[in-house]
Amino acid sequence: MEVIIRPSAESAAELTARLIQKAIMEKPELVLGLATGHTMEKVYDKLVEIHKSEGLDFSLCTTFNLDEYIGITHRNKSSYWFYMNKHLFTRINIDLRNTHLPNGMAEDYTAESEKYEQMIKEVEGIDFQLLGIGKSGHIGFNEPLSALQSRTREKALSPVTIKQNSKYFDPPESMPKRAFTMGIGTILDAKRIVLLATGKKKAEIIAKAVEGPVTSMISATALQLHPKTTVIVDEDAASNLKEQEYYRWIFENEPEWEQFK
Ligand code: GLP
Repeated sequence: MEVIIRPSAESAAELTARLIQKAIMEKPELVLGLATGHTMEKVYDKLVEIHKSEGLDFSLCTTFNLDEYIGITHRNKSSYWFYMNKHLFTRINIDLRNTHLPNGMAEDYTAESEKYEQMIKEVEGIDFQLLGIGKSGHIGFNEPLSALQSRTREKALSPVTIKQNSKYFDPPESMPKRAFTMGIGTILDAKRIVLLATGKKKAEIIAKAVEGPVTSMISATALQLHPKTTVIVDEDAASNLKEQEYYRWIFENEPEWEQFK
């Protein structure tokens, strides 16, 4: 794992978007794993801007989202399907047939989960997985005690997550209590992972996820087991990290980051 600290939430999101751009330019038929949440909005805005101003071509890309709430339709403005179409898919030249999210209205949870895993397998896995982090330490909706080898499945949401996300629902009590999510094992199968976290509210959980012991109580700690994961944070989200000096040195000195300065 490596940690990159950027001066602001904007520059952290821009670096994330630039990494996605580089991956698409190197492999136009990239399989992208996508995340939702407020943090990602800046990344998607930047990708749209790069698409418009520099012609970044998404036409051959395939996407798989991490998760979707159970029991709400595509028309629900708080569904992740709606979020992705609003913030990204309808603003770039991706073929909508190549964009995938679990179907929140599926009645057979096991069949839907297996189908999702199978679709990812058919495209030979995810090349680049984008992640955010919830206050509970979840990646996707892998709440505390998710098995570190878990696959796509239906998961009950934790009280911390319900508190964090119910503001996106009107009324807040209508927020579903369950979701489909890729498993931690599914996420760890991605060839490259980039987790983005910004803001003071994420400082505590980022310190635990990056520098704490690996534990199923904090799903994001499993990323320490992955050979190619980059955590991108702004100064606020980095503020509780003990080894900040070392992480800053990496960005300044590793040749890989030269082109992003
Ligand atoms: C939801 C998603 C997560 C995401 C998290 C962070 O819970 N399921 O994948 O990481 O939101 O949200 P925000 O960026 O709004 O803090």
